[in-house]
Amino acid sequence: MLSHLQDQPADKILGLMKMYRDDPRPQKIDLGVGVYKDAEGKTPIFRAIKAAEKKLWETEETKAYVGLIGDPAYRDALAKLILGDAVDPECIAGAATPGGTGAVRNCFELARMADPDVRVWVSDPTWPNHLSILKFMGLPTLSYRYFDSETRAVDFDAMIADLSEAKSGDLVLLHGCCHNPTGANLNLAQWQQVIDVLLKTGATPMVDIAYQGFGDGLDEDAAGIRLVARSVPELLVAASCSKNFGIYRERAGLAMAISQDAARRDIHEGALAHLNRQNFSFPPDHGTRLVTMVLGDDDLRADWMAELEDIRLGMLRLREDLASALREASGSDRFGFIADHRGMFSRLGTTPDLVERLREEHAIYMVGDSRMNIAGLNKHTVPILAKAIVEAGI
Ligand code: LMR
Repeated sequence: MLSHLQDQPADKILGLMKMYRDDPRPQKIDLGVGVYKDAEGKTPIFRAIKAAEKKLWETEETKAYVGLIGDPAYRDALAKLILGDAVDPECIAGAATPGGTGAVRNCFELARMADPDVRVWVSDPTWPNHLSILKFMGLPTLSYRYFDSETRAVDFDAMIADLSEAKSGDLVLLHGCCHNPTGANLNLAQWQQVIDVLLKTGATPMVDIAYQGFGDGLDEDAAGIRLVARSVPELLVAASCSKNFGIYRERAGLAMAISQDAARRDIHEGALAHLNRQNFSFPPDHGTRLVTMVLGDDDLRADWMAELEDIRLGMLRLREDLASALREASGSDRFGFIADHRGMFSRLGTTPDLVERLREEHAIYMVGDSRMNIAGLNKHTVPILAKAIVEAGI
């Protein structure tokens, strides 16, 4: 039986992680996988998470199962962080999942349970694993143009033109903030226009939000999703705590189904619980419990917010430093978009050949589509990267 298995296509991001690890050159620079790194190249544990973990260790008395949706207090706390007061909590069904990817998968599955013929619209480009999961599930996928490779900003007219072709019953996947892989984001007026198109076509939005707090701030980054939640009859949300709580390996995510019809909530939550049961049974508890503890304690929450804000501002500074180092090295303003992008990533907008050249000649690792993880830089590596980019003729 197992002899029928074939090699699976390598995940571009994870493949790059391995190549980087295997590279013996000491000056190597990792701008690959979306993991935050501080100036020393470490991925720190947030102070508030460490404190919650200590408290949990001291007070937790059992490791017995919690429930198929996880602890409802986690659903409520994270839903509030993301959605604020945009919708009545009575309308929000949610279930904890193993990481944001688990939530993405279960949202797709929920859509397919509701409508076996669902088609899914994704931005071109999008996170490669969105496409990989959709392909694996055999869901018909359509793409809408998103990124203008000249300006490196959102190609908004093209996006709207493409989304206008969506049909009632289609699912439209949107990135809540800090678009992965481009770093180019919608402003609030543009979100409103996307909502108008969704309402006109009858398509259902699904928002993947994995970087809240990394762009313009916790509330600012959620402004788009809150507007959507207030405006549409139904919304799916896949949320991740990996990045903004720094608990990557704990796998804390949340799948939400929001409907203006509160009477439907229990059915939606029952379906999410059923999906958990079929796919992995109970979701992991440790990370979600830490998040619940941090969000529910005034001191821990304030400290977490302060640390997240420091991280955000540090990444913004790196963006500005890189844009200005490139201005100096290239004698032009053509890299100004790096300072305008938000979140962990920027798409440089160059060819896979030149990305490979950066890797081979300069030991600089970025994803083949020229996505750079800005958090992989520090003040010493910014000028090295700027020089290498200009030398490579980008
Ligand atoms: C990324 O895009 O690099 C992260 O979301 C990590 C991953 O799982 O791909």
